[in-house]
Amino acid sequence: MESGFASGRLLIKDIGHLVGFGEAPTGRLMGADMRRMSVIEDAWLAIEDGKVMDGGRMADFPGIVDWNGLEVVEAAGRCVLPAWVDSHTHLVHAASRDGEFVDRIRGLSYQEIAANGGGILNSAKALRAMSEDDLFEVSLARMERLMRMGTGALEIKSGYGLDLESELKMLRVARRLGALDRIPIKTTFLGCHAVPNGWEGAAAYTRYMVEEVLPAVVAEDLADHVDIFCEEGYFGLEETRVLLEAAKLRGLPAKVHVNQFKASGGVALCVQQGALSVDHLEVLRAEDVAELAMGDTIPVALPLCSLFLDLPFTPGRTLVDADCALAIATDFNPGSAPSGNMHLAAALGSIKMGLEPMEALAAATTNGAAALGLEDEVGGLAKGQEASLLVTRPLGSVNEALYAFGDPLAERVLLRGHWVV
Ligand code: NIG
Ligand code: FE
Repeated sequence: MESGFASGRLLIKDIGHLVGFGEAPTGRLMGADMRRMSVIEDAWLAIEDGKVMDGGRMADFPGIVDWNGLEVVEAAGRCVLPAWVDSHTHLVHAASRDGEFVDRIRGLSYQEIAANGGGILNSAKALRAMSEDDLFEVSLARMERLMRMGTGALEIKSGYGLDLESELKMLRVARRLGALDRIPIKTTFLGCHAVPNGWEGAAAYTRYMVEEVLPAVVAEDLADHVDIFCEEGYFGLEETRVLLEAAKLRGLPAKVHVNQFKASGGVALCVQQGALSVDHLEVLRAEDVAELAMGDTIPVALPLCSLFLDLPFTPGRTLVDADCALAIATDFNPGSAPSGNMHLAAALGSIKMGLEPMEALAAATTNGAAALGLEDEVGGLAKGQEASLLVTRPLGSVNEALYAFGDPLAERVLLRGHWVV
């Protein structure tokens, strides 16, 4: 045979539905484009050195020139989907808070638990007591669990250290996970997550974070972004502005926790500051939607948090109809979303946020990648992108992948060209 694809190390053939293949990455998908991720029926995909090399319809398959070292996988009746991109997690933490879970079932609210010394401060106490190596081990186990569920890229925040030494410890652990090169990991400095005991208030604590901790984080190159919990009872608009401006001067874009419990004007501030993303948005006013529609800031919905805390779901339909590039992430953390299940998060996008399955899929893959500045590398299966994908169990359509929300989805998971399942 003269032409054809030569010495690919992996060929997936007879794929029922291949999602996200193309000549080049699409980048973020906005509004109506979110329904337009490429889907090829009866397809093939060729992978070499951990990257997508080529693909297309079986009818046009050029044949195999070189069988040497080639693995061939038959995927008849299956979907091949880009691996999930989880653009908002607190994966590095010391321990679960299942005691607070029971307290909530018995009637206390998330805010009441926090006011009693639980919540973020509870996690900070446990984290400060744990060695960096132990923190690395428990976090690695979590990361590997998410990888087996098909997560192919992650963001990891600090924010359970709340002092210089412990914030640096968290970020070093996140960087060590990234240095394993298993999946791309972006880190976010969230020193302003809660005000620890002993501080007079949010303003003084924020000043300490800006003047002493942020410079140390930057000096060690430990963070790719900055974040702050902009919320009544945590940090206000002025603290948010001060931190975002200081971080911008040091080259760190912002990804901000905002509008989880109350709308405060934080969305407008973040959009005007040019934040990369605003995350949570359970409580969103028409004026916030209008701000997001006008700016480049990506709204990130965290439906597992809404489910777990019984909060409103982010109005995803409204945001997509306003032409936003909505992303979906897990918020994986011990207090408000103790799950890193991107499949469930995406399915809730359809079940509770009014997104069509293809829109929810785009939100959980290519738009998540855009919310990390990784849209060229991950979130799709275009030529040159990372070979990180799920081969589903037999499914009649792509829509069925989100419709069958609670069932195991992936038969196999390939990340950067390596099978992890
Ligand atoms: O995204 N809202 C702020 N931070 C986390 C929860 C942190 C915690 O409870 O430990 C969140 O929901
Ligand atoms: Fe969060």
